[in-house]
Amino acid sequence: MKNEKKQIIVFGGTGYYGRKVVEKLLNKGQLVKIVSRNLESARKIVGEKAEIFQGDVTNRETIVESLKNVKAIIICLSAVKRNLIRKMHQIERDAVLTIMEEAKKANISRLVYMSGYEIREPLLHKLNIIEFGEIKLEIESKIAQSGFNWTILGDAPSQEIFFAFIKNGKMTVPGGGLNAIPSISAEDVGEITAQVVMRDDLNKRRIKLTGPEAFAFPQAAKRIGDITGKKIKHMTIPLTIINIVSFILIPFVPYLRFLYKSLKMLNNFPKDLADSVPEDHKLLLSLFDYIPVTLDMEIKKRMEENKI
Ligand SMILES: NC(=O)c1ccc[n+]([C@@H]2O[C@H](COP(=O)([O-])OP(=O)(O)OC[C@H]3O[C@@H](n4cnc5c(N)ncnc54)[C@H](OP(=O)(O)O)[C@@H]3O)[C@@H](O)[C@H]2O)c1
Repeated sequence: MKNEKKQIIVFGGTGYYGRKVVEKLLNKGQLVKIVSRNLESARKIVGEKAEIFQGDVTNRETIVESLKNVKAIIICLSAVKRNLIRKMHQIERDAVLTIMEEAKKANISRLVYMSGYEIREPLLHKLNIIEFGEIKLEIESKIAQSGFNWTILGDAPSQEIFFAFIKNGKMTVPGGGLNAIPSISAEDVGEITAQVVMRDDLNKRRIKLTGPEAFAFPQAAKRIGDITGKKIKHMTIPLTIINIVSFILIPFVPYLRFLYKSLKMLNNFPKDLADSVPEDHKLLLSLFDYIPVTLDMEIKKRMEENKI
């Protein structure tokens, strides 16, 4: 079958980032297939134009069948949900390795994998949170050794992170969030990822996806306050409380423990990585054709939508 008639498959195409990838690919006239466990809710998310393959990626048959008539693969699966966290290994590791195995058999060469911004193993060990990044490190290493035409995208956290802690004029952040971190809009992740998968010249590249500026939470609170004209008071909850509570609740709510590890990472984000955000962003502007959504733009949009 001719390549133009073949589809781009998005594993995780209903997710926070994945649905934007699907939207941007469809806008570019690409044939898109997604895999989702729930056909009806997926249809509501991605609309009528994408094919939906209903199935669970922990089932090999789902992967084998879904890869038919596919020319390129985007993996944006995540098990960071209260009801999925216990299956993280099966979803984020085993299924991804099966996708790679079956893609090879099906002669699909282009592979795009969404990962974390930059995962530093020594830092994870130092913070005693290796489980936070070990699956992604393993997958990245397997992809790097594979024969695929691959691109790994190191996604920054979504800009949503700065709004998620705001309630009644207060931004209450566990640990304070005093280290600057990169962030990006889901729109930009979707647009860049769509352009990446359609290109063949980004083989063996790991590209960091970020907006133009890194912000610490107090800076973001000030920026939101300045633009909206409503003061946002930044407050800190000690991370130790979350450490103790999440530890006690491991057998009942393991998700909390994962959140604690994410917060620990956030509060220890390396300064040199944050310092290089403007450079990393410049690279994106030179590689891709898009107008980035800045935090200021996102704040104004939320004001117009009465969301802030
Ligand atoms: N969101 C962020 O701020 C952020 C930051 C940095 C990196 N990332 C990376 O970006 C990627 C996507 O993250 P996200 O936050 O967009 O994910 P998300 O919103 O949690 O979406 C997860 C996706 O995985 C799919 N999925 C989960 N289990 C599945 C299963 N057993 N079978 C089939 N599909 C399954 C879900 O599909 P159904 O529910 O439809 O089945 C959904 O589309 C991940 O690699 C993540 O690490 C995200």
